[in-house]
Amino acid sequence: MTDADRQRLRSRLLTLEPTLPNPAIGTIQGNCLDIIQHLPLGSVDLLILDPPYNLTKDFNGLKFARRAVEDYTAWLDQLIVALKPLLKSTASIYICGDWLSSASIFTVATRHFVVQNRITWEREKGRGAKANWKNSSEDIWFCTASNHYTFNLEAVKLRRQVKAPYRTQDGNPKDWETTKGGNFRDTHPSNFWTDITIPFWSMPENTEHPTQKSEKLLAKLILASSNPGDFVFDPFVGSGTSSVVAKKLSRQYLGIDLNEEYCLLTERRLELADSERAIQGFTNNVFWERNTLAVQKRNRENADVQ
Ligand SMILES: C[S@@+](CC[C@H](N)C(=O)[O-])C[C@H]1O[C@@H](n2cnc3c(N)ncnc32)[C@H](O)[C@@H]1O
Repeated sequence: MTDADRQRLRSRLLTLEPTLPNPAIGTIQGNCLDIIQHLPLGSVDLLILDPPYNLTKDFNGLKFARRAVEDYTAWLDQLIVALKPLLKSTASIYICGDWLSSASIFTVATRHFVVQNRITWEREKGRGAKANWKNSSEDIWFCTASNHYTFNLEAVKLRRQVKAPYRTQDGNPKDWETTKGGNFRDTHPSNFWTDITIPFWSMPENTEHPTQKSEKLLAKLILASSNPGDFVFDPFVGSGTSSVVAKKLSRQYLGIDLNEEYCLLTERRLELADSERAIQGFTNNVFWERNTLAVQKRNRENADVQ
């Protein structure tokens, strides 16, 4: 990002002064705990919480320090107490963490929400340890504000290649489809995700942010738990993944980050999303299992000529 980019993007950020627009759609720089006080109550359909995990991490010069489990739990509790009034009674909440942060997330989430599930995401990459198992998974806790909530099952089914194409007695495919691109089955999405990598250098969505989530991961959460036009709020927006995906999927969005550089990164990605709506790994409105790029490409070409 050049200084000229920064100057241009800075003018797009929302500010509390003189007043925040209503609805506030975009990105605000600041401490989310302060900004939350200025947001309308009962307005959020989907809350994405990807806070600093209970690890020591440098976010572009602003450090988050690992603390005792009970202190991290207290920090998270204070955050959720502040966020809760912003939620609609039908809202869904996803809270991300690693194995250690999960101890705190579960404690706090059960205090305030209905905990529906825990997704385990195999993110693969991780730093090898000399005397421990490598950390290569993360948790995403799925909670709701009540028992009335949106879950768009069909939108998040996973398309898998059929290896052993079983047919019924009359010769028809059993629970799978033949297409020009191959044989596929759309399966129920489970709480164990192995089809998503963290963004890496050759992916167009990759940025400098140290803990960027991939667009495909956010697309699953947003498609399952919101509808077009709904309001998606991410108080720790980082490089902007949730806002960008919300925009691509025609939801409204607001992101906050303490770090101005990340807010500007978010705005740059939002700008690019005006002309680039694609989400890698979500082709023709379908989530594909991993290592199927060639098949997806064939399928896209077939869809294009139909
Ligand atoms: C785990 S990262 C989020 C990554 C994001 N999901 C993405 O895809 O890029 C957490 C973010 O929270 C920001 N942050 C830390 N404390 C904050 C606070 N009090 N208010 C707002 N943002 C904060 C950090 O700057 C960092 O970018």
